[in-house]
Amino acid sequence: MPGPLSPPVLIGEAEIQARVSEMATEISADHGDVEEITLIGVLKGAFVFLADLARRLTVPPVIEFLAVASYGAGTTPSGPVRLIMDTRSPIEGRHVVIVEDIVDSGRTLRYLTELLGARQPASLRTCTLLHKPARREVDVHLDYVGFTIPDVWVVGYGLDLAERYRTLPYIARLPGERTTGRCVGT
Ligand code: PRP
Repeated sequence: MPGPLSPPVLIGEAEIQARVSEMATEISADHGDVEEITLIGVLKGAFVFLADLARRLTVPPVIEFLAVASYGAGTTPSGPVRLIMDTRSPIEGRHVVIVEDIVDSGRTLRYLTELLGARQPASLRTCTLLHKPARREVDVHLDYVGFTIPDVWVVGYGLDLAERYRTLPYIARLPGERTTGRCVGT
């Protein structure tokens, strides 16, 4: 069953945009002495956040993307995380910021920090728009966090439910959705 066309707002567009600007300022300040930052967006969800964030940095960004998948029994996202698309350029010696839309269990970001950290970047930081601590399964260090949210299913601003809602300009809550992954039954 398709969900509502305009699900209820959890975090509004203006609030997101203001926070993204603050995060860009913070990231720029932390990289004030470097020539460029390599932003690595984790597909697909991070594409909207990364686009807004990157355009507000005062340090020139290099844009990279990668994609991961996790499969357990059937199609539940409980199995090991694996890389299905790598960055185009090597990151050795680069100042890297991993850009996520959301950190739930932490397994994706844990995998990526270990994978990318082994490639000897000059620095490696983590950035997520949304942080859902109630779902955390593994410890991950988060350098930049936009919003800490409750344990509810969220869509919009890049996040989907079965590929819907990614283009909503705000973060919405889908009440009553019950599935695996970024969700809890409410
Ligand atoms: C989401 C999100 C993160 C990951 C976080 O991706 O973009 O990459 O889940 O979950 P975790 O902390 O439990 O590992 P998703 O699997 O929904 O794919 P998508 O970004 O392509 O929609």
